[in-house]
Amino acid sequence: MSGNPAAEAARRRTFAVISHPDAGKSTLTEALALHAQAITSAGAVHGKGARRGVASDWMEMEQARGISVTSAVMQFEHRGQVLNLLDTPGHSDFSEDTYRVLAAVDCAIMLIDAAKGLEEQTRKLFDVCRHRGVPVITFVNKWDRPGLEALELLDEIESEFRLRPTPVTWPVGIAGDLRGLVDVREPGRMLRYTRTPGGSKEALEEVVDADRAAAEEGEDWTRAAEELALLSETGGEHEREPFEAGVSTPVFFGAALSNIGVRLLLDAVVDLAPAPAPRPLRAGGTRPIDAPFSGLVFKVQANMDRAHRDRIAFMRVCSGVFERGMTVTRAATGRPFATKYAHSVFGQDRTSVELAYPGDVVGLVNAAALRVGDTLYAEKSAEFPPMPTFAPEHFAVVRPADIGRTKQFRRGIAQLDEEGVVQVLVSDRRGEQAPVLAAVGPMQFDVVQHRMENEFGAAVRLEPLGYSLARATDKDGAEALNRSRLVHGEAMVRIRDGVHLGLFPNRWHTSSFEREFPDSPLEPLIAAHE
Ligand code: G4P
Repeated sequence: MSGNPAAEAARRRTFAVISHPDAGKSTLTEALALHAQAITSAGAVHGKGARRGVASDWMEMEQARGISVTSAVMQFEHRGQVLNLLDTPGHSDFSEDTYRVLAAVDCAIMLIDAAKGLEEQTRKLFDVCRHRGVPVITFVNKWDRPGLEALELLDEIESEFRLRPTPVTWPVGIAGDLRGLVDVREPGRMLRYTRTPGGSKEALEEVVDADRAAAEEGEDWTRAAEELALLSETGGEHEREPFEAGVSTPVFFGAALSNIGVRLLLDAVVDLAPAPAPRPLRAGGTRPIDAPFSGLVFKVQANMDRAHRDRIAFMRVCSGVFERGMTVTRAATGRPFATKYAHSVFGQDRTSVELAYPGDVVGLVNAAALRVGDTLYAEKSAEFPPMPTFAPEHFAVVRPADIGRTKQFRRGIAQLDEEGVVQVLVSDRRGEQAPVLAAVGPMQFDVVQHRMENEFGAAVRLEPLGYSLARATDKDGAEALNRSRLVHGEAMVRIRDGVHLGLFPNRWHTSSFEREFPDSPLEPLIAAHE
């Protein structure tokens, strides 16, 4: 029996955590799962050092470096709601993967290290959220360690992100001396926490009334009360509309490692984060939640696990009910796709998923026919807008290290292109034996090198090219660029979509090209960080 998609969608919250590396994303992920009782002790999903258990990092390289390049999806229940937590790539380069994951969520938790404030990766990821209209909940982490002042952090968010911070919890005690938290919706009391040893269980929470807090915490309580009074005067109250419009962000304080403030954050995901909404269609209008099934493929990943050498496509259900085994249509080709092997993916575990509702993520195994950005639908046709391809800024010629492994080399490069790990470009001048890899961030090249060697048995050599700009042009523009003696640049074709690209070392050369060939188009591509 399948349930009612609108009712099921209403109790779903699909979100991601965005942060700079080391701010505590893995720790918070575990803590959230722990509170939702998806795991019995922290350390089961992610974790470093002694806390490492089942890693959701599939690749050896990820484990060696402690980074997460692929995306995992975790589903758990809290207060009768179903929470889908999508992992964003944790490495320090912006990559298109992140954008794709954020295309599949309805809300993001922006995690900030109390000592460091906003960091580079936080900024980039926040830009993506703003670009996609994803509302952001802020969690200031590591309040158990010395850090910035709470008001200072709010100022930083406001001035740098033009985002109005609306605190929902407020710390009693400065960073490094956390006495407790005030839930600003219930200001006359303090929540005091006793962390369990190692932080592997939920912290004990005690409600302390205002008189007792004043007597026991003295200065710290007075100061928190004054700050709260100041905040309420300046109108920093959470409101749904500006939050969902990306104008304000509810702010929470805590320490993920000790599980402090995590329950309140989890409650906020349930209470504040929006449920799945009708999704805009390419042709205009939206696909209602209770329309027949539709889904968006936001990530394709091969060989995540050596035990299953296959390709898995992660699809977010956008409308209707997904039933395993149903035959759906791939919008790009109009061809049917059978969903016999549909899984939910949790860390390295896979279990068959029988039913999924809007907001849920399904892993489709044996999905060689599917591409990132694909729409799948049943009955009534639908197609969501394509995922944007970002302007690459790094370019390198790739060659097989061993000429005897050319077949494996070709297969690997084609596969990585289809997955969107890098963009693959070719030109008549260089020939197909020497494709050019184009990346938004250089870490993408490391992933290519690692996967080519370990998965496809074809080690590669990369020779960086001295270009940093790509512009879209047409066939004539491409020929003109290759002919020109004045402009330093080179024309290539992007395999994925057949677009002609001009590569240039800097803006000076794009300007020269435009002066020399005023009739040839030179269109900017979408910048990764606008
Ligand atoms: P990431 O996924 O964002 O990269 O961060 P991760 O959770 O791995 O956390 C980075 C470091 O910050 C870890 O320390 C972790 O224990 C610590 N951390 C996370 N949350 C808190 C917190 O609330 N308070 C404090 N004091 N520390 C926190 P590490 O030394 O790199 O690893 P470990 O050996 O302690 O696990």
